Amino acid sequence: MKKIIKIHLYILILVCLSCQTETKKDTNNSTNQKSFKTEIDSIINLMTLEEKVGQMNQYTGFWDATGPTPESGNQAVKYEHLKKGLVGSMLNVRGAKQVKALQKIAVEETRLGIPLIFGFDVIHGFKTISPIPLAESASWDLEAIKKSAQNAAEESAASGINWTFAPMVDISRDARWGRVMEGAGEDPYLGSKIAIARVRGFQGDDLSSPKTIAACAKHFAAYGFPNAGREYNTADIGTSTLYNLVFPPFKAATDADVKTFMNAFNLLNDIPATGNVFLQREVLKGEWNFNGFMVSDWGSIGEMIPHGYAKNNKHAAELAIKAGSDMDMESNAYVTELANLVKEGTVKESLVDDAVRRILRVKFELGLFDDPYKYCNEETEKNVIGKKVFHEDALDIAKKSIVLLKNKNNLLPLKKQGQKIAVIGALANDKTSPLGNWVLAGENGSAVSVLEGLKQYKGNLITYAEGAKVALPNSKLHFTQELDINKTDKSGFSAAIKLARRSDVVVMVLGEHGLQSGEARSRTNIDLPGVQQELLEEVFKVNKNIVLVLTNGRPLAITWAAENLPAIVETWQLGTQNGNAIAQVLYGDYNPSGKLPMTFPRSVGQVPIFYNYKNTGRPNIKVRKEVFKSRYIDEENTPLYPFGHGLSYTTFSYKNLNINKAPEKEINVTVDVTNTGKVKGKEVVQLYIQDKVASVARPVKELKGFEMIELAPKETKTIEFTLTEKELGFYTNKGAFIVEPGEFNVYVGGSSDTKLSSKFNLD
Ligand code: NOJ
Repeated sequence: MKKIIKIHLYILILVCLSCQTETKKDTNNSTNQKSFKTEIDSIINLMTLEEKVGQMNQYTGFWDATGPTPESGNQAVKYEHLKKGLVGSMLNVRGAKQVKALQKIAVEETRLGIPLIFGFDVIHGFKTISPIPLAESASWDLEAIKKSAQNAAEESAASGINWTFAPMVDISRDARWGRVMEGAGEDPYLGSKIAIARVRGFQGDDLSSPKTIAACAKHFAAYGFPNAGREYNTADIGTSTLYNLVFPPFKAATDADVKTFMNAFNLLNDIPATGNVFLQREVLKGEWNFNGFMVSDWGSIGEMIPHGYAKNNKHAAELAIKAGSDMDMESNAYVTELANLVKEGTVKESLVDDAVRRILRVKFELGLFDDPYKYCNEETEKNVIGKKVFHEDALDIAKKSIVLLKNKNNLLPLKKQGQKIAVIGALANDKTSPLGNWVLAGENGSAVSVLEGLKQYKGNLITYAEGAKVALPNSKLHFTQELDINKTDKSGFSAAIKLARRSDVVVMVLGEHGLQSGEARSRTNIDLPGVQQELLEEVFKVNKNIVLVLTNGRPLAITWAAENLPAIVETWQLGTQNGNAIAQVLYGDYNPSGKLPMTFPRSVGQVPIFYNYKNTGRPNIKVRKEVFKSRYIDEENTPLYPFGHGLSYTTFSYKNLNINKAPEKEINVTVDVTNTGKVKGKEVVQLYIQDKVASVARPVKELKGFEMIELAPKETKTIEFTLTEKELGFYTNKGAFIVEPGEFNVYVGGSSDTKLSSKFNLD
């Protein structure tokens, strides 16, 4: 016993001493990067093989940490492992007291006292819930997105967390895939900017601050391209898509110094991402020089067995470590098999050492060796959770995330006085669905409902009818299996119709409940679920003044609504402040400024549909009589609403698009944007390019710049963009980034279907 304590203290002393010397040395280091090499080496020298493997083992929270310890079963085994130093990380544990209890075991009861790192899915807020990531992405406001991640970091860190499994930077073009709610949409340029904003928000400038946590770029790679949009399905994508679309946000996260990566459940071209040497060793740790660590997805090492890639858990462990997976989340493969694999010579111990080094470095960077309990102060937790400023910021980004899809005859904004407004749809009165999926620490019923938000405006008579049941307000968040929505019960229709008939305006809140999107929520039909479409059409028969407030976690095919209704507002799932944000937009106290980060299809048959497609050899589809063209016989090729679309209560004109060549292969693009309407408004000015002829065919348009501006009525601003080689180049099918001379088109406007264009030649 004495000896154990001695070793433990020895490390702490050694570590403290060397931290001091490193810190001194690093004050002159402009990158502010510490390698902690000496400290890590000294710890590795003291570790047994089993202890090293322990650092690579991650368990989910398994018993009430502050209650009695488990005596038998799986939980008891995990508890024993923890005491023996065979656990390096835990997930799903939260609360300063709970985290501290487990950390205490790691630090005070194991031989070497190495602290645990606590991971959690802090996806869009912690207790204070921000809009779902797809919604936030619709704000195109990188500062607001960064702030949202920063607040989530501070709030979760106060509750013991020091590592989030976010951001999910998977590009996806498939609205059937429920997990699009967790990403930044379909575009690699926007996705990369948002990835950087989120990583910087979570990690801040100083990872050792108790307000910042390590981020995790996930899921590497191509998880957002499941065949047929079905969750966990194989991704079959070409090299060009992999390099030019899937990789860029991951690369951007790496360049922003993201501390961890998570691999993915899917096969990529028939090799599991978790066992993929090319992805993890060659690209990420090789070419990109990533020096953080790679955690597997939940059980994904073991899932290589049903994939038909690994024979058994032992084989899976071997394949995963060789491919570069550093930490095993809940497969039990490393903790049971890895030491033996090393002892029998199948796996080199240097691979284990490398993984452990990476994990320890992040723990050092978080400051866990200085103070393993720094995230575990109950007083801080009480003061930080739900801070007023978090709610103010959540409201700010919620307003910015709303996209005005249609507003015929200026039905919106609503008048503030003397109106009879019928609010129809169960989702209007739902205080849980607006939180969306991935709200593990959030409370059911903690969102402001749309109805509550609208009722704050006292000048109108607001009445409500459910119309059709859809929501699951009492369900256990995330894990419920009751995912379906009412498909038969129309008992509420007549009351809703009656109400609509005697109202001036009808606000219909329709869409998906909070758990219809997210992980394992793929749909084959992306219309309004259940009987909601029927309800909408019935109400329309008696009152045409309908404002459709959509609430959903993915693009929906709302073609009938787009053709028939005067006003449609996409509100996604906006989190805690949902109803307040929606009311402010509907009443014009916030002029909507959001732009779609994903294309809205006319029907599910068009999916995957996206703006940055390549021309076929038969692109001209204008002449209907020509049969042999790339088109459908029963539907347009065009989307219902394009990527980048979003209206305002004012209008903007774009003029004087000028292109000037600058030295160093730089191109300057300027454009004059004028507010031509009657109210102040914000616009996201978007710039797209087309490389007309290239050795790898390029898309018809690619986003390469955007800027959010605010203009008073009649005000004009000249906006300038600079295109450098970074924007003008692309990846070849061998993964080389090249810039080719030739003709480029440039498009500037308020959405991806802008027609304002000019061109230049790159020498
Ligand atoms: C599985 C998900 O795919 C991943 O994104 C998440 O972080 C883990 N589960 C842990 O909850």
